[in-house]
Amino acid sequence: MNQSFVVFFTYLLLSAAANTLDPEMKAGSDFTRATCDRTSELKDLCISVINSNPCEDLKSNLTGFLAIFINETLHVVIDDHSYLLNQTLNGQLDNRTLQVFRSCASQYQMSKDSLRVLLEDELLKQHNADLNMDLGQIDNYLALCEMEFEGFIEEPSAWKTRYDYVSSLLILSLQTTNLIKCNRIHVC
Ligand SMILES: *[C@@H]1O[C@H](CO)[C@@H](O)[C@H](O)[C@H]1NC(C)=O
Ligand SMILES: *[C@@H]1O[C@H](CO)[C@@H](O)[C@H](O)[C@H]1NC(C)=O
Ligand SMILES: *[C@@H]1O[C@H](CO)[C@@H](O)[C@H](O)[C@H]1NC(C)=O
Ligand SMILES: *[C@@H]1O[C@H](CO)[C@@H](O)[C@H](O)[C@H]1NC(C)=O
Repeated sequence: MNQSFVVFFTYLLLSAAANTLDPEMKAGSDFTRATCDRTSELKDLCISVINSNPCEDLKSNLTGFLAIFINETLHVVIDDHSYLLNQTLNGQLDNRTLQVFRSCASQYQMSKDSLRVLLEDELLKQHNADLNMDLGQIDNYLALCEMEFEGFIEEPSAWKTRYDYVSSLLILSLQTTNLIKCNRIHVC
């Protein structure tokens, strides 16, 4: 065995041991860990959203996970929408940013309405978890807002941070609906 192989192998053993000892990982159930592992780069976000949701009964299957992710996305979109309205009212924005924020507020309003319908009607009442198209539409609403900045003005960094976060949550929801339908995170 050459030396770099030994080093690599030791590294694998150590990182496996570190994973078993990680308190946050230990706190989550095996199902949470196994599911979140499948979301690759969004794994940490996945674990933290699941662990911070108090509804333990939703954590036993993928449909419950989807409800948790969509619920979280809805809360964040509601908060982003209030932020946009607040910014447009406080008189500090330049005219162009003001225009973009006003237009974004209507995209976020539509996203909010759609997410409510998805969660309350489709998922919880009708048990329809095949939400890829609807989630894709919401993704488009939010992306339209981002596109309004392009080529005109610099996007405020506080807003960009908010967009990146909600966008990651939406991707987690999309991945979960794909896992339910296709048993993989990509659309089928
Ligand atoms: C998921 O879990 C919930 C709550 O335990 C249960 O009501 C539901 O039937 C389960 N769904 C599937 C698809 O197993
Ligand atoms: C959604 O979040 C709200 C507020 O945190 C909570 O009251 C509600 O039970 C959650 N619903 C689901 C399906 O997670
Ligand atoms: C609006 O923003 C200001 C300044 O950032 C803050 O003090 C105020 O609480 C916000 N109002 C609402 C309704 O969010
Ligand atoms: C911004 O809008 C106000 C009111 O509509 C106007 O008076 C002002 O000239 C505008 N500023 C610029 C830079 O366009």
